[in-house]
Amino acid sequence: MIKFCVKTLLVGLVMVIAPTTVAADDEYETIRPPRKLTAAQSRVAASNYKKYCTLCHGEDRQGYVNDHAPSLRSKSLFQSGVPHEVLRALSYGREGTAMGGYLDEVGGPLTLDETWNLTYWLFWQANVDRVRIGKKLIEGDVSRGEVVYKANCTSCHGENGEGVNAPALGNQSALAHNSDEFIRYAIRNGREDTPMIAWKDTLSDTDIDNVTAFLRSKANGWAPGKLVLKKLPTPDQYVINKDGADPDFELSEGLYVSSVDLLKAVQEKRKMVLLDTRVSSVWQRVHIEGAIPMPYYGNFDKIAEDLPKDVQIVAYCSCPRAAADYVVRKLRRRGFTRTAVLYEGIFGWMNLGFPVMRGEVE
Ligand code: HEC
Ligand code: HEC
Repeated sequence: MIKFCVKTLLVGLVMVIAPTTVAADDEYETIRPPRKLTAAQSRVAASNYKKYCTLCHGEDRQGYVNDHAPSLRSKSLFQSGVPHEVLRALSYGREGTAMGGYLDEVGGPLTLDETWNLTYWLFWQANVDRVRIGKKLIEGDVSRGEVVYKANCTSCHGENGEGVNAPALGNQSALAHNSDEFIRYAIRNGREDTPMIAWKDTLSDTDIDNVTAFLRSKANGWAPGKLVLKKLPTPDQYVINKDGADPDFELSEGLYVSSVDLLKAVQEKRKMVLLDTRVSSVWQRVHIEGAIPMPYYGNFDKIAEDLPKDVQIVAYCSCPRAAADYVVRKLRRRGFTRTAVLYEGIFGWMNLGFPVMRGEVE
């Protein structure tokens, strides 16, 4: 009771001081803001955001620019976000989705400090009161939760939580990184300015717990493996099948090659350069054999010096084409006319059962 009063007082005070902040779900206690950044750290974080994140999450963190990258400014995400929930998503990525890992330890471009600073920068940009969400496991009736899920959630999140145009709720790395209370908060409060509505207006508290428990039941104990990072290929290794014939792709829209045609060219050992344009950590985990990491945030003036102009170049990504389109546009502007984008992206390629190289996990 006393706690409740103090909390109401605090929320009240904050509302008086800063009337624009949105009040958090009043079942929860507000907590202190995250660590402040220095002006210099803030500048670096903003420029890292621009370089690495706008491609999918958008200039203004609004989300939905490519693939179905979620909003990185919805208030309820940052209200409920313990920094870890945001940090781990950007550090390790969500395996099997277009969200790759950006931490250097897994083969990404950012140091640990930079990932923390980018996380705090996102919190400060969102500028909301954080709430205390515990680490408590949510108990609920899993089979009832499944019924609730099937009735309300599959249209966006997919039959098995694989994600249709919304995050993959059954994703193992997401389940490992997101606490039950974080998941429940998203369900209760939705995510402002996105298609995810606040279900506390429609579902009972018990059913929200049930569906949370159902989602948790999909976790199978994923843990980030310690990757043995592969050595990056050097320019003399860029061209595959150096003695092979040229592929003669028929490109749709003057740009796209199909997975079927690319597989044929690979099997016939045609001379090509394959560019994996995703964040380099995911190249470490899985890529099409012979592909070299050429992330969308690279320095293209430098890259252009290392690539041959007379060899067919095929770029791919997983989103399913955004990063590869972007890279090929940059290359074409620099005179690389023999360039194409893999239409289905690497996930489409894998769904067809076509071969990939897997990373080695210790
Ligand atoms: C109309 C489409 C739609 C429906 C229906 C829907 N969601 Fe969502 N959901 C979304 C979108 C889109 C997001 C991502 C929003 C954002 O942050 O940009 C989301 C986010 C979430 C998240 C947060 C995931 C994360 O990784 O941060 C959870 C949990 C969630 N939804 C659960 C549910 C549950 C449970 C239901 C059914 C009761 C449901 N959703 C119904 C579209 C939907
Ligand atoms: C190639 C597209 C792409 C790029 C680039 C990208 N993301 Fe994502 N991101 C996604 C997608 C797609 C998801 C949702 C994946 C899922 O759970 O299904 C996501 C999810 C997230 C989440 C989880 C949000 C939530 O609601 O739980 C965070 C945090 C995030 N990204 C941060 C970043 C940051 C920071 C960067 C830049 C360093 C970045 N992302 C770059 C596509 C991208």
